[in-house]
Amino acid sequence: STVDWRPEDAERDGYEHYMLKEINEQPNALDRTVSGRIGNDGSVSLSSFPPGTFADVRDVQFVACGTSYHAAMYAREHLIEMGVPAYTFRAGEYATAPAPADEDTLVVAVTQSGETADTLQSVRHARDAGARTLAVTNVVGSTASRECDDALFIRAGPEIGVAATKTFSSQVAALSLLGERLVEDVTGEPSPDRAERGAALRRLPADVQRVLEDSPVAKLADEYRGRDAYFFIGRGVGHPVALEGALKFKEITYEHAEGFGSAELKHGPLALVTEDTPVVAVFDGRHGEKALANVEEVRARGAPVIAVAGEGSRKVREIADEFLPVPDTHPDATGVLANVQLQLVSYHVADLLGRAIDKPRNLAKSVTVE
Ligand code: G6P
Repeated sequence: STVDWRPEDAERDGYEHYMLKEINEQPNALDRTVSGRIGNDGSVSLSSFPPGTFADVRDVQFVACGTSYHAAMYAREHLIEMGVPAYTFRAGEYATAPAPADEDTLVVAVTQSGETADTLQSVRHARDAGARTLAVTNVVGSTASRECDDALFIRAGPEIGVAATKTFSSQVAALSLLGERLVEDVTGEPSPDRAERGAALRRLPADVQRVLEDSPVAKLADEYRGRDAYFFIGRGVGHPVALEGALKFKEITYEHAEGFGSAELKHGPLALVTEDTPVVAVFDGRHGEKALANVEEVRARGAPVIAVAGEGSRKVREIADEFLPVPDTHPDATGVLANVQLQLVSYHVADLLGRAIDKPRNLAKSVTVE
């Protein structure tokens, strides 16, 4: 008899790739991220950050790379909507040209590993400027967690696949908790929809589980592989999710993918849209009419449209060629659910193409050089 079992398969729990295992671990990871941290009224309890912790903060600067940058963009949406000045910086650029900051600035380093050189360098600039620094990270004891004034741990558990999946979801959830604390401390008022946001976060593990169980993506992937290019568009939190969907897609399929804010389409990218450029449109449930109009723009050029939206979005379902539904929930949670569908799109297309999914060429899990 032959040996058809290798020890490393056991660590993958029978999954063919760590990436698929980690995609499927998201309900558990999210459960750990939020458990014990949200009250029934949506109030946030983060043991290291009691109410008032950030009362002196005037503005927030996020610094991050790659997927973590997209989580930071996602977090910024809520803050600016609530009137908290918040800015996102790609750490590679901030490390070279740091934004002005002082002791009233909170610099939040979002970094799964806590070891990304550009992000650490950004933190050092911020500290030199007198800013307060906070690491949002998965790794206890990481350089970022030690060098920053404070750390918030996302508790996603170890991630082996180079392509970040469960850590994005847990970063968004952890940043959502931090965001509510910041809104309350900086503005003196909770978000008006705090209870709904909190309920949606508490429901997120179960909602992700439903996406994983019902996703039609595995059946669709074959039809859309091998095209000229793939565009991902969205508004609101759909914008960072579109960027994240495109990043994941190029990382592991090696196909040409670009993400845009939907509003940018007509300022250039539209010139490339043909019948051979599938457009993946992410709907966050908040920007209905404008987002639909953007989809009409690409449909008019013959592009196949794959829409990701709440299952009750009747109009989206009608105009899309393919519809990837997610449970209807608060818009701030919709993006995380939509992103799970996009993770599956990248995974299944890469798998059909026979790519090295867990170790894509030229890429590293943690980039420790500037
Ligand atoms: C690399 C990885 C990405 C990751 C980025 C930032 O580029 O391949 O998956 O998002 O670094 O890593 P960090 O550990 O700082 O979140």
